[in-house]
This record gives sequence, C-alpha cells and structure tokens, in this order.
Amino acid sequence: MTVKVGFIGTGGIAQMHISALEKIKDAPIVAVCDTVKDKAVAAADKCGAKVYTDYSKMLADEKLDACYVCLPPCAHGTIEVELAGLGIPTLVEKPVHLDLKTARKAARIIEKKRIVSAAGYQDRYQKIIDRLRKFIAKRQVALFIGHWMGGMPGVYWWRRKNMSGGQIVEQTTHIFDMARYLFGEVKTVFAGGRWGVMKDVPKYNVEDASAVTLQFRSGLLGVIVSACCLDTGGRIGMDIYCRDARIEYTERKSLKISMSDRSECYNRTTDLAYAENKAFIDAVKLRKPELVRSSYPDAVKSLELCLAANESLKTRKPVSIRI
Ligand SMILES: NC(=O)c1ccc[n+]([C@@H]2O[C@H](COP(=O)([O-])OP(=O)(O)OC[C@H]3O[C@@H](n4cnc5c(N)ncnc54)[C@H](O)[C@@H]3O)[C@@H](O)[C@H]2O)c1
Repeated sequence: MTVKVGFIGTGGIAQMHISALEKIKDAPIVAVCDTVKDKAVAAADKCGAKVYTDYSKMLADEKLDACYVCLPPCAHGTIEVELAGLGIPTLVEKPVHLDLKTARKAARIIEKKRIVSAAGYQDRYQKIIDRLRKFIAKRQVALFIGHWMGGMPGVYWWRRKNMSGGQIVEQTTHIFDMARYLFGEVKTVFAGGRWGVMKDVPKYNVEDASAVTLQFRSGLLGVIVSACCLDTGGRIGMDIYCRDARIEYTERKSLKISMSDRSECYNRTTDLAYAENKAFIDAVKLRKPELVRSSYPDAVKSLELCLAANESLKTRKPVSIRI
C-alpha cells in the first residue's frame, strides 16, 4: 500500500520528518501547507508535493492517507479534531496543543474510531530506553531528577508564553513524557519558578527556570528542573536512583548504569527520526496503531501533566492529575 502524506506546517521539525520520509518506501509526500507560502514552496521543491496555504483546502482537494501536523503550539486550533473526524491518521508534533479540552476531544475521536495516531516523542524509540525500561522493571526506583537546562530556541513564538506554553510545555515536555513512559502516571505536581534573569531579551515572558516535584501513583518521587537562560550550553537527561543502582541518561543519547561491583555504558544507536516515521507509516499501512510508541491520546496525558505544572507555577499550589 502507498501512504500518501500531507504536511500542515513546513518549518524546522517538518524538515526532519520530510528527510526521514525520503528513506521510507511507498510514503510519498503529495501535499504541503504553510501559511507562509515561501516555506511551503521550499518544502515542496524538496519532495515534489503540491503547495497549499490553507489546510482546509488541502484536506478538501487531496485524498491523504496520513497527515503530519508540525505547527507552533498556539496554532493547533481544531485541526486535529477535523483530521480525526475525517479518519485521517495523523502524526502531531509535541506539545500536541495548548488547550487540553480540544486535545481531549480529538483524542476521544481517535480512540473511538481506532485511527492510527502518533506524537513527536521520538525518544521512546531509543534502544537504550528499551534497555533502561527492562532494567528498572525488576527494581524499585526511589527518586529521579530530570533536567532540561539550556538556551532559548530561536523561533519567534517560543519566547511568548501564550504561544509556546513556556519551557515546561514546549521543551521539557520530552522529559515529562519520558518520566511517564518509564515510571507510569503522576498523582500530583508542585512547581516553583524563577523570572527576571532574561530582562534583556525583547518580547520575552517565559519562566527562566523552574523546578517541578512529581509524586507518582506508585509512590515514586521525581523532580524535573528546566532552564532556558543559559548561554553556556547545558544539560539534558535524567538521573535515576535505585537501592542497588544509579543510572545516568545523558543528553538523550547515552546510558550509564553504576552498581556497587560494576558499571555498564551504552550509547544511542537508533536513528530516531527514521524509527519514529517508519513506525507511524507501518502502522498506517498495516492498520496497527500499536506499532506507534507515542500515540496522540497518550501524548494528551503528557500535555495534561505539563499544563498542570504550569498551573502550579502560577498558583504556587500543588495540582492533582485526574485519573
Ligand atoms: N520532536 C522534537 O524533537 C521537536 C523538535 C523541534 C520542534 N518540535 C515541535 O514542532 C512544532 C513546530 O516547531 P518548528 O520548530 O518546526 O516551528 P517553526 O516555526 O519552524 O515551523 C512552524 C511552521 O508552521 C507554520 N504555520 C503556522 N500556523 C499555520 C497554519 N495555521 N497552517 C499552516 N502552517 C502554519 C509556520 O509558518 C511555520 O512555517 C512545535 O510544537 C515544536 O515544539 C519538536
């Protein structure tokens, strides 16, 4: 089966998916849409697709087998609800929305119709993460500390809280999602923030740094820290503590497990963009949603967690996560 693919949004991350799809058989990109026509044209030149600047027209004119949604967080609107209504399998970049109510509506349709869906949490495809999951499955984890410490991304919308959702929702969401993937669901979050370090940056109103405490349903305690104010390079990953082992997941590409008598190190071997796209296209071809490791409905739960952390940041009170 040939999977005819469309794109809504052809900026930075769309380029990564377009390059990955070039390596996948029978998944031609037939249409691309961007409100900035030059960007759509540039993407179409790469893959020979038809150009649109209005996604509704693209969906009306094309018979798509799959659609990628690669939009700034604030631009999602009802696109995913419409795609789900049409029964079109969709890969949506993280964060899948900023409005939980609309995201849940799309998730409900996807689940009811058993539509193949995916979200851009590509780290779930790492072989070193498979290894880590296996290792901790036999143990009780006492505590983990996740971190996303770095600089501010250059895209214009990132520095506005109402457009990106802020660092927790837009960036550190990868670590929040990984925490759910490794340790299960969270019961409550409590966040603190730091503002005022980036006063020199025009139009900026995102938190400069934050620390979120997570109490999991299992009893596990976690802390996830973020900073976007570093000019020095930073640190991304997770430190995990068990009674008999200390684990360092570093820069999303290496794993070190230290025990009292030995330590083991593993490096990333997975081409994440390829693995993520291949799983999605195969799932569409074979009509097997379970081939995807991060579905849209599951990503909505990661969104809920990040938005709850945001709320706690604002109210300075703990926030419970609904079952
Ligand atoms: N999975 C990852 O590792 C990863 C990495 C980078 C970005 N992302 C995510 O991907 C999303 C997009 O990020 P980006 O860096 O590509 O942003 P970008 O600004 O480079 O691209 C977004 C594109 O969407 C277009 N657009 C906006 N509204 C539109 C609409 N209504 N219809 C059609 N096009 C529209 C813009 O013109 C722009 O070209 C974000 O949610 C971001 O968090 C994920």
